[in-house]
Amino acid sequence: MKLNEALIAKITAAKQEHLLRYFDTLPESEQASFAAQLADVDFDALPELVENYVLNRPHVAIPDDLGPAPYYPLTPRDEAQKKLYADAVKCGEELIRAGRVACLTVAGGQGTRLGFDGPKGTYPIGPVSGRSLFAYFAGGIRRTEEKYGVKIVWYLMTSQLNHAATVAFFQENHFFGLDADQVFFFTQGTMPAIGYDGKLLMNAKNSLALSPDGHGGTLLALRKSGALDRMKRDGVDTISYFQVDNPLVPVVDPKFIGLHHLTGAQMSAVMLAKTNAMEKLGNFCVTENRLQIIEYSDLPKELAEKTLPDGTLAFIAGSPAIHVIDRAFVEALTAGGKLQLPWHRADKKIPFLDEAGNFVAPTAPNGVKLESFIFDALPLAEKTMVLECDRAEVFAPTKNPTGVDSAESCRAMLMDRDRRRLAAAGVPVAADAQIEIAPALAVDAADVAELVKLRKITEIVSGAKVVIE
Ligand code: UTP
Repeated sequence: MKLNEALIAKITAAKQEHLLRYFDTLPESEQASFAAQLADVDFDALPELVENYVLNRPHVAIPDDLGPAPYYPLTPRDEAQKKLYADAVKCGEELIRAGRVACLTVAGGQGTRLGFDGPKGTYPIGPVSGRSLFAYFAGGIRRTEEKYGVKIVWYLMTSQLNHAATVAFFQENHFFGLDADQVFFFTQGTMPAIGYDGKLLMNAKNSLALSPDGHGGTLLALRKSGALDRMKRDGVDTISYFQVDNPLVPVVDPKFIGLHHLTGAQMSAVMLAKTNAMEKLGNFCVTENRLQIIEYSDLPKELAEKTLPDGTLAFIAGSPAIHVIDRAFVEALTAGGKLQLPWHRADKKIPFLDEAGNFVAPTAPNGVKLESFIFDALPLAEKTMVLECDRAEVFAPTKNPTGVDSAESCRAMLMDRDRRRLAAAGVPVAADAQIEIAPALAVDAADVAELVKLRKITEIVSGAKVVIE
């Protein structure tokens, strides 16, 4: 086949002719798929991206007026706030019961740090059962449905790299008890990797080295996949957003959803008090009255370490990437099928085809992957809301196999959470007992109290290894 002349002109203008080196030698079917990949690249925008993000390091400008973002504290400040929180819970419950809330999980990442072979959501995280991350969320959704007498649709974002394996896992596991049409899979966009010399990398003679375009790609993918249309048809206006590697997160939190609604926010965020100035969490900041998250690596040390008179960190608010987002806000942002959030540069070892046509797996970073981040939508909102939550109840990220933010620490936090809930329900749990409560049975302490009564659970003895299913 012949490649479209206009496309060739764009490729040439962007100084990327090397991409066409093998085109004529490919079988016709491979030519067609490669041509489609090439047509998907915005070659007009490429020279500027290369200049700003590859040949030069992007510099995050810190505005002079940058300050810590205000937030609703975990413990209400006064009686009025106490009432607001109680009203928020009621409001959130009503929204859930009315079927206005959907769940959204981003699961398109490559999970390189975890080093697990397969989509991250299939990782066996259950501390005793080994149930998968996906099974945790599905269980939480089932229990929420039962509690509120409603169907909740779960929007699950995959990438081109893990889509088929993700869908197959759900099929093998009979959708974890959910109806198949309740899980709306959609695939995020891709971004070509760029070598340090500004040339797009190829990973075969018939393919670019593509990677997922970051969780910021969620917003446009929601539109392109028809997910927003489905939400509208279903009467859903509120999206509960969380990441696939955090099984501790409540899949829907009535208080968070209700407060989002009562404050009129378009996009809201959970915040956690950082454990130390340099903790690897995005920092909630405010500039020109807009909420913004600044990555830990971009916040100047003197700001990160700045303290208030009482000794607490001025920039105390860290982001665990848990959001509530209005469907209407996503619709507005992606109107016309376009949304350009800022790119973030990551230096990576990217396998590629060298000039002689040999496949090379580099041992040191050789190029740049560009990703957009969902939190960059926050400054685009007229109204936002930040709510402090208790880390032990909402955030146990599984980034690494061991150590900080690992599968190990996540399992320990899941177990501690269930231990606390049992203890609160009057069930002593021996310090060395291993326990896990099936997520489909309990999403909160009240559920556990009920379960304890129903099952007549009186204690968890030393040495026990129990899954309450
Ligand atoms: P991370 O930034 O932790 O990336 O993603 P990751 O791919 O899971 O892990 P590493 O960095 O390669 O070790 C945070 C969340 O955003 C999702 C991930 O699946 C995870 O839920 N994500 C990330 C996407 O859905 N798409 C992306 O392009 C990137």
